[in-house]
Amino acid sequence: VTVVQSVRWSPEGGAVRIIDQRRLPAEFSERDLRTVDDAVAAIRSLAVRGAPAIGIVAAMALALAARNLTGASDFRARLEADAAILRSARPTAVNLAWAVNRVLAAARDSTDASDAASRMEAEADAILAEDRDMCRRIGEFGAALLEDGMTVLTHCNTGALATAGIGTALGVIYVAHEQGKRLRVIAPETRPLLQGSRLTAWELARAGIDVTVVSDSAVASLLHSGEVDCCIVGADRITRLGDVANKIGTLSHAIVANACATPFYVAAPTSTVDGATESGGEIRIEERSPAEILVEGAPPGIHVRNPAFDVTPSGLVSAIITDRGVFYPPYDFGDAPR
Ligand code: MRU
Repeated sequence: VTVVQSVRWSPEGGAVRIIDQRRLPAEFSERDLRTVDDAVAAIRSLAVRGAPAIGIVAAMALALAARNLTGASDFRARLEADAAILRSARPTAVNLAWAVNRVLAAARDSTDASDAASRMEAEADAILAEDRDMCRRIGEFGAALLEDGMTVLTHCNTGALATAGIGTALGVIYVAHEQGKRLRVIAPETRPLLQGSRLTAWELARAGIDVTVVSDSAVASLLHSGEVDCCIVGADRITRLGDVANKIGTLSHAIVANACATPFYVAAPTSTVDGATESGGEIRIEERSPAEILVEGAPPGIHVRNPAFDVTPSGLVSAIITDRGVFYPPYDFGDAPR
């Protein structure tokens, strides 16, 4: 398959170029991010989204900031401050802090600012290239679990738009498709921001893969009817014990899949495993603006909760497909990053 490139250096230089995912599928447009503030705004507003993609954008934005700061006397302090701002753009996906820390660490031994900026750029490039490779490997390991004719349920968007490569859960589907397996994909719309109906449906249709959009509320009855052979979702953070934070609604799908004895797989790169967190209860779940779910004319004074993610306990996860292979419970990711 040929997929879109969600993040790259702007060919004009001095900027990170992203596909503006807020406008899809009605409009395909790209935007250049020139500053850390631009990158933070793009990440917060979900112009760029998906755990690996936001890490890559933050890494590149920090490297860019370093290049622009090389003349500053307080170079190190300002870099640290920029890194802190980038890390705080969204709290749940561990890839964000992981990528920012990697780029910062790359400059630790530099003696001058210009050398630091070069090393940081090279590290951001490496993170992007590694993510592309990890997606391919996840796809290859995961495709072995799929057979011709299967119906696969996913959630949110975990494809090229969310990564630097072919995606994670969608990467598995793309590789199986390349292998000639005919699949039918069910894409729940993924309220409130509709990553399923806007982004996953767009990506899969472009690749010539059979995709059916359903409302999130239709998932239980589809699973119960027996027409879904397995579920494959992505992850924003996986704890040492295999608990999985992912887009809100994932947990409901997992509970129903387990009740219906349907395999429930998670696909993610090693950069999503948070070796410093043992269990899901420790994960900070982003709460987003009530405006995303309030309807016009809503009575004043009503309460709104808008958690953007939920945590699926490892006991509901049949297997975790990573770039290092498929892990089965009890989960042990070995030397997962901390
Ligand atoms: O709020 P989003 O759209 O950034 O949430 C994205 C997800 O939950 C994805 O499933 C996850 O980041 C994995 S993307 C490969």
